[in-house]
Amino acid sequence: MADDRPILMFDSGVGGLSVLAPTAKLLPQASYVYVADNGGFPYGVRSEAEIAARVPALLGRLVERHRPRLVVIACNTASTIALGAVRAALDLPVVGTVPAIKPAALQSRSRAIGVLGTDATVRQPYVDDLSARFAGDCIVLRHGSARLVELAEAKLRGEPTDIADYRAVLDGLLGQPGGDRIDTIVLACTHFPLVADELAAASPRPLDFVDGGPGIARRIAYLTEGQDWPGAPGGEAVFTAPLEIAEPLRAGLASRGLDRISIL
Ligand code: DGL
Repeated sequence: MADDRPILMFDSGVGGLSVLAPTAKLLPQASYVYVADNGGFPYGVRSEAEIAARVPALLGRLVERHRPRLVVIACNTASTIALGAVRAALDLPVVGTVPAIKPAALQSRSRAIGVLGTDATVRQPYVDDLSARFAGDCIVLRHGSARLVELAEAKLRGEPTDIADYRAVLDGLLGQPGGDRIDTIVLACTHFPLVADELAAASPRPLDFVDGGPGIARRIAYLTEGQDWPGAPGGEAVFTAPLEIAEPLRAGLASRGLDRISIL
């Protein structure tokens, strides 16, 4: 029987679209189910216990309903807290999204790296571990920002955002002791590449922003290499809370190939 199972991509909101875009570029023939857990949004201000309880349970339900061939947790917060539990619970490949500290360390000339994520992500031992393993000779400064997540959601709803807000977020990182040396910033939340242009425009000096999305897309392409995609390509967006919240996003989702919206 033909295998028409989709790729299921999961985030708390629209952030995972920054992973979907490079993936759809590499795998345009695939079908996608994009899940925004708007009922649990924002993850970044939640406790480890809340994320650890919510994400594996929700993904279990989603997998039962949509029968994907592969799951992508397109969210750093959920991945750094719950990736192991999700992998243990699901009997299919699960790709996570963790801060791109390794590529940032490879390219930083000043040996000072910034990690911009959610509050929950930047305090994870996972980040200590990545820093120790891949950036041992760098100073790694971190800043958590719920505001930047909101700005990315607002942009995707088509609302104007203020460059001063982006500047304030960057100040939280660059204003720390040693922050003046930073030349490379890891966008350690999938929402942040969606506002990379605004961050660049707000930067006080030229900075390199590292987006893990293209690397995750390559991993997904590798894991699905040689597989058939017999159905029509395309996608569906699934929300976990009432559709009124999703409605202003309809145009932004359709422009990314997600032309159907449903609720879990
Ligand atoms: N996009 C998510 C991440 O990569 C989290 C945003 C949020 O819900 O706070 O961490």
